[in-house]
Amino acid sequence: MYATIDDARVAPSLSGVPETMLLTTWTRSAYSSGPDNLLHDPLLNELVRQIDYDFRGRFGAPSPVHAIRSRYADERIRTFLTQHPDGTVVVLGEGLETQFWRVNEARVPWYSVDLPESIAIRRRLLPADPQNRLVECSALDTAWLDQIATESSGPVFVSTAGLLMYFTEDQVVTLLRNITERLPRGEVFFDTIPPWFSRKTLRGWHLSRQYTAPPMPFGLALADLPELIERVPRLEVVAAPNYSQPYPRYMRLFNLLSRIPYVHNHIAPGLIHCRFGA
Ligand SMILES: C[S@@+](CC[C@H](N)C(=O)[O-])C[C@H]1O[C@@H](n2cnc3c(N)ncnc32)[C@H](O)[C@@H]1O
Repeated sequence: MYATIDDARVAPSLSGVPETMLLTTWTRSAYSSGPDNLLHDPLLNELVRQIDYDFRGRFGAPSPVHAIRSRYADERIRTFLTQHPDGTVVVLGEGLETQFWRVNEARVPWYSVDLPESIAIRRRLLPADPQNRLVECSALDTAWLDQIATESSGPVFVSTAGLLMYFTEDQVVTLLRNITERLPRGEVFFDTIPPWFSRKTLRGWHLSRQYTAPPMPFGLALADLPELIERVPRLEVVAAPNYSQPYPRYMRLFNLLSRIPYVHNHIAPGLIHCRFGA
């Protein structure tokens, strides 16, 4: 059964990184209807209809990358929940992601950690569910970890999509270290952009005449992932495909190009699945 939302249209007044949730929500919805699509998510499509915002004017044509990222994370979290019915899911920078309704049939505790203005719009636009606990807190603050460490006992899946690139590398390493130090065992999912793309955003990446994406200081080539992971005790990589690998038909050309090792290792964005304390 899918939840529904009420019908008053809402004009969000977001800016900076919080506004980017409108980009990812909208592009995901472009790949979430019809039998042949990456996601099956009627709630997402309804959500986008509720938002009064010039998505195409601001962001241009939608690409499949955000739906690919969500589908990949969905599959990892579904498997985790099957293996750990006593588990907990934490999503950092969850924005308006509707993954809770796509994958959490078992209704395990699910914490959405985001900045206050982002939690406010999530609260306003998405259905309330006692198992979807909304935590107003920066991912860089350890208060959310204190809460999870106190309230959970089984393994924890920490997922973060479209967030770490807005931090610095040292902030990312500290965040990952805090997770593996404070929680006994679990899994982590995050995505990476390559350094060339990070540099492009630092110069100003114009998606349209109306919209320039916020700077993304943290870029990581897949070739440099082992060096990053080495800085985080107990963390090990389970899989690290580039974006085109899990569902090649949605990125055919890039999938062909990324068979060239240099392209995969230095040019491609990545989907990183890790575990700790296994
Ligand atoms: C690109 S959006 C991604 C949203 C969602 N993960 C998705 O894929 O649709 C970035 C999200 O990170 C959140 N964010 C930005 N800085 C944050 C921080 N320091 N701590 C937690 N969340 C943050 C924003 O509010 C926004 O919801």
